[in-house]
Amino acid sequence: MNILITGGAGFIGNHVVRLFVNKYPQYKIVNLDKLTYAGNLANLKDVEAKPNYKFVKMDICDFEGVMRLMQAEHIDGIIHLAAESHVDRSIKDPFTFAQTNVMGTLSLLQAAKAYWESQPEKYEGKRFYHISTDEVYGALAMTHPEGIEPPYTTKASSGQHHLAYGDQFFTEELKYQPHSPYSAAKASSDHFVRAFHDTFGMPTIVTNCSNNYGPYQFPEKLIPLFINNIRHRKPLPVYGRGENVRDWLYVEDHARAIDTIFHRGKVAETYNIGGFNEWKNIDIVKVLINTVDRLLGRPEGADMDLITYVTDRAGHDLRYAIDSSKLQRELGWEPSLQFEEGIEKTVRWYLDNQAWLDNVTSGKYQDYYRDMYDKR
Ligand code: NAD
Ligand code: TYD
Repeated sequence: MNILITGGAGFIGNHVVRLFVNKYPQYKIVNLDKLTYAGNLANLKDVEAKPNYKFVKMDICDFEGVMRLMQAEHIDGIIHLAAESHVDRSIKDPFTFAQTNVMGTLSLLQAAKAYWESQPEKYEGKRFYHISTDEVYGALAMTHPEGIEPPYTTKASSGQHHLAYGDQFFTEELKYQPHSPYSAAKASSDHFVRAFHDTFGMPTIVTNCSNNYGPYQFPEKLIPLFINNIRHRKPLPVYGRGENVRDWLYVEDHARAIDTIFHRGKVAETYNIGGFNEWKNIDIVKVLINTVDRLLGRPEGADMDLITYVTDRAGHDLRYAIDSSKLQRELGWEPSLQFEEGIEKTVRWYLDNQAWLDNVTSGKYQDYYRDMYDKR
């Protein structure tokens, strides 16, 4: 197959590109990325010389450019990750999110439609796989009808026992209720992808994944930002009381799920991806402090006083919790790492790759960062 991966220079994208380039030497992998602040080709140094890999700097909104590229490379599969991805940025600048996430996805769909419909075999053997987020479902409550105090142990329909902070979970049937400009834009793009299946018969798949963590994540997101700050003994800006719950998945497990679903997922279906791994923000922050301190040979917990409670994020979703039973049951995917192992690997990676962090936290980003937190 000739596969176009969009957003391959970003956090999740580089792991997907690496997996596909290494696992499928018979495929041609074309990585299309605009290289915004979040795209970094240094993330792909280890694959850039591989014969089955090619990078193209392009904006997904460039319909003509994408069309020409698809024709030139005979693209028959698309894995679409390119997006603006940070909720705080979407609060400050929603236009960019509508432009890239909605208009960019539409432009990509139109280009794929025009190219594939011009081919004799039309949509046969083609696939448009759209990567989305669980944030489109909105926020879940932290209550239990019988008044049981969270977290409590429960059992998913896939049979897995796990800790939960409420009795409701995001399933594929849930209606969309996005709250942030980021999730509203992602929800809209999901609807466009499904509309292209329903209207034109394009073979599409949508997946909605929980929060990812791991190497190469831009240090504006909670986990890499805090690891970097702990190392440099800078304040850790915990929004509100740190009580919000997120469901965390190691990024390579997401990439493996994408591989499984791209090859074996059913057209027109939606799959939720997650590892039944809910954590309160404040508890993660404490794990990060203890891990960084231990690995740097500081007394464990010595940096707890860096925790700084700041004004809450506007419209901050209380709890995300994905039920990935369908994916586990139907396609046999399951996460390979326990959270404790994943966090240990992740902290070690950032401590060992300070040069990467320094590179991405240079000038422009620092201005943005200062601007953002000075208000608090
Ligand atoms: P990221 O911000 O790290 O990377 C986004 C990439 O897209 C960058 O390389 C950027 O240069 C590129 N890009 C942005 N605008 C572009 C444009 N107009 N044209 C071409 N390329 C463009 O994001 P990420 O965390 O890797 O997320 C990737 C995808 O996965 C997104 O669609 C996101 O919504 C989804 N997702 C992310 C998470 C998460 O926890 N990070 C969870 C679920 C789903
Ligand atoms: P983030 O990594 O931005 O992912 P998302 O908003 O997509 O879930 O944030 C994860 C959680 O951490 C979220 O509840 C917001 C919180 N948070 C902070 O408390 N402080 C911070 O500086 C950041 C970036 C996030």
